[in-house]
Amino acid sequence: MITDRTLAKYPPKAEYLLLILHEIQDSHPQNYLPEEELRRVAEYLNTTLAAVYGVVGYYTMFSITPRGKHVIRACRSPMCDALGADDIIQALEEELEIEPGQTTDDGLFTLELSECLGLCAGAPAMMVNGEVHENLDRARIRAVLQDYRRRS
Ligand code: FES
Repeated sequence: MITDRTLAKYPPKAEYLLLILHEIQDSHPQNYLPEEELRRVAEYLNTTLAAVYGVVGYYTMFSITPRGKHVIRACRSPMCDALGADDIIQALEEELEIEPGQTTDDGLFTLELSECLGLCAGAPAMMVNGEVHENLDRARIRAVLQDYRRRS
């Protein structure tokens, strides 16, 4: 079980909850936090499942539903919006043949929309898993997706 391997690395203290959640999600092939894993985390940290769900629900980077191997977070906040985020999001939808919130049939990509990613100087921008992609246009989107397909 992913959780037991992860928990073994951390003392049973609430301050490690975010690190534990990140590690479990990143280790899961479907990039999410299953309830049985969250239940185990709650037991380990001597807290309630509701408290763990409260933290998971607060942060948009966590998911309790299965996602693709690569989670694309496309920024739609003002700076990116002013520099073409709509066109970038449309290009992603067309290339992946999905809408925001959906996962491609091959399980490779999930498309999510995000508030500011802190990459405004490189707007329009997106993140794929933890990797930054800036100054996007349609050609760059195609190249980035191709690169992830090749790596998978
Ligand atoms: S507005 Fe898009 S990264 Fe800040």
